[in-house]
Amino acid sequence: SCPPGPSDPPPPPGVRVRQNVAALTTAQLDSLRKGVAAMKALPDSDPRSWTFQAAIHGTDIPPTSPLFNKCEHGTVGFLPWHRGYLYYFERILRWAANDPALMLPYWEWGTAPTVPGAFRLPASATNPLYDATRTLNNGAALPNSVVVDGVNNALALTDFDSGVGFSGTLEGPHGAIHVITGGPGGNMSAVSRAARDPIFWLHHGNIDRLWDRWLNLGGGRANPSDPTFLDTQYSFADETGATVTTKVRDILSSATLGYRYDDTPNPAVAAAMALTTAAVAPPAATLAATSSAPAEALDKVEAKPLGFEVARVKLAPVPDARAALAQAFPATGGPRVLVAVEGVTADRPPGYAVGVYLNLPPDASAEERRRYYVGTLDFFGKTKADERAAHGHGGGGGFTQTFDATALAARLQGGKGWDPDALSVVFLPEAPTPPGAARDEVVVQARASAEAANVRYKRVAVRVLPARR
Ligand code: C2O
Repeated sequence: SCPPGPSDPPPPPGVRVRQNVAALTTAQLDSLRKGVAAMKALPDSDPRSWTFQAAIHGTDIPPTSPLFNKCEHGTVGFLPWHRGYLYYFERILRWAANDPALMLPYWEWGTAPTVPGAFRLPASATNPLYDATRTLNNGAALPNSVVVDGVNNALALTDFDSGVGFSGTLEGPHGAIHVITGGPGGNMSAVSRAARDPIFWLHHGNIDRLWDRWLNLGGGRANPSDPTFLDTQYSFADETGATVTTKVRDILSSATLGYRYDDTPNPAVAAAMALTTAAVAPPAATLAATSSAPAEALDKVEAKPLGFEVARVKLAPVPDARAALAQAFPATGGPRVLVAVEGVTADRPPGYAVGVYLNLPPDASAEERRRYYVGTLDFFGKTKADERAAHGHGGGGGFTQTFDATALAARLQGGKGWDPDALSVVFLPEAPTPPGAARDEVVVQARASAEAANVRYKRVAVRVLPARR
């Protein structure tokens, strides 16, 4: 296996190392395949079986165990629940492979945005890591906007918050990666089937790794410390097939669980558990600019279609709130600028990323565009198809996705690109292109996928959140 680089501190004795899948030896990959194959060979009723484990996340058949359908999305439990889920899955995998050294690897899509080769080839049922429902088996790369810019936006936020803080913002790229990797109809695209795809576990390994990287960045980054959160209980199955119940406080630290990532030191347990000051109720945000009449209730606003084409939405300032938009926005510590896409509905997830940009100049090159990137719409678990499945998270009236665009607003103000009377949001769809594919072909497919997805939104709004005192 690959020795730690000179700058990495050696892992403390007894700490197991989760490696980048790209660094695995043939023997390690064989062991991984062996474990997955053994889990797939167990009867579905065995809690250690592949099917049972996947159903703990979600299932679209009537649940046969109280452990099923438990994944946490859009809540403060997103990171800890998936950490506990991976931890017990990894123990089962080790048992199934009969390899005490086996660790779950991670897929670092930021630097390797195509599905790892071992998961694509051979493209046959003889390969336990292959899933025939996956669109990205075609070797196309995930968009950089999602895997680099979207992740960096999340890491830059210092509060944990499941809405517009680190946790909630990281869920955006996380969900977009699900949906683009799986593609229309793919297991990865649906909450109720995602964990059936072996790549799911490596995708979440990277999410889990990013949580540790975020804590290591310091600057006040800390996990929530309120007792209701810390005492929340989750149940999983272990390598004996027994049900295990654990509290969030017991799985908050990767060091406590005895593992670390190969390029990431464990955050100090104290930092992972740091007591933040008592929870302060967030101040109310002011609606400052909107694409529809500000007084109009959202359910009265007519939904507009969002197809596979660039759409520019002009925002008008709300007269009473113009001052809020005209104030200075420091990148941190001051008022926050939020961009919200409201009342989004889709019949099923589109097979491409829908990037959201603020004040994007019409002639910006692909590289310049990145400076105006706000985020990517996340359809994972939020479509009508998900609602029909057993464990959809979608609400009947559609969903709202809110992004923190404070650093971007600060930059725009610095570059004189901020005029409260002329704000606009651009939706920019980006289809993953398989190597060798003709552009026309990709566009034809993306348009068909847009038609099936039937994405609509009601309103785009900019809100200003006063600085915390
Ligand atoms: Cu619970 Cu990435 O999904």
